[in-house]
Amino acid sequence: MGFYERYILPRFINCACGTKPITRQREKVVPLATGTVLEIGIGTGLNLRHYDHGKVDKVIGLDPSEESWEIARRNNPDLPFALEFVGLPGEEIPLEEASVDTVMVTYALCTIPDPVTALHGMRRVLKPGGRLVFCEHGEAPDPSVKKWQDRINPLWKVIAGGCNLHRPIPSLLEDGGFSITTMDSMYLPSTPRFAGFNYWGIAEHA
Ligand SMILES: C[S@@+](CC[C@H](N)C(=O)[O-])C[C@H]1O[C@@H](n2cnc3c(N)ncnc32)[C@H](O)[C@@H]1O
Repeated sequence: MGFYERYILPRFINCACGTKPITRQREKVVPLATGTVLEIGIGTGLNLRHYDHGKVDKVIGLDPSEESWEIARRNNPDLPFALEFVGLPGEEIPLEEASVDTVMVTYALCTIPDPVTALHGMRRVLKPGGRLVFCEHGEAPDPSVKKWQDRINPLWKVIAGGCNLHRPIPSLLEDGGFSITTMDSMYLPSTPRFAGFNYWGIAEHA
């Protein structure tokens, strides 16, 4: 990992993912988590302050970026629930089968190199009846926007730490063994349309 990926990128992502429209998205989904939560690609911990303290016992944050984790810990010193960090990629979840109540994934399926393998792992560790709560940007429904997503993606991916603009989030979830129970989608306000089409909701074991 180079200097940019290790030291600059986590700070860049912390700013880019901390905008008002994205924070508003976090407010919609993160309070839905209950019990023991596995957050995949936790990054700099921008979701931590949005968990409902009365409903969450513990958050296990998984992310290969230790530098992001340091920022998460520094920015959230006094959380009223237990917090653990696992420094591994989402394709290698080391937890026991059926051991978590909620899997939380926000703005990470765009970046995980093999999202379907990671989703199969999330399904394995999610208890029967547990919920995958997601909020992701991805493939836009309008052909003109989609065309720009396809054009910009190769450059964007290099600048944005492997983030892809045009992943088809609903079909990825289904390919990963989930069935979507509720989902909303829209272009976020004040966000370039090529990076701003969001899908959010809840999925369960298919
Ligand atoms: C755009 S950031 C989003 C961070 C956080 N989920 C949020 O909502 O602010 C993408 C995150 O995915 C992480 N990531 C990259 N490869 C990954 C992998 N294979 N498994 C899990 N997370 C990964 C990055 O380190 C980064 O923290």
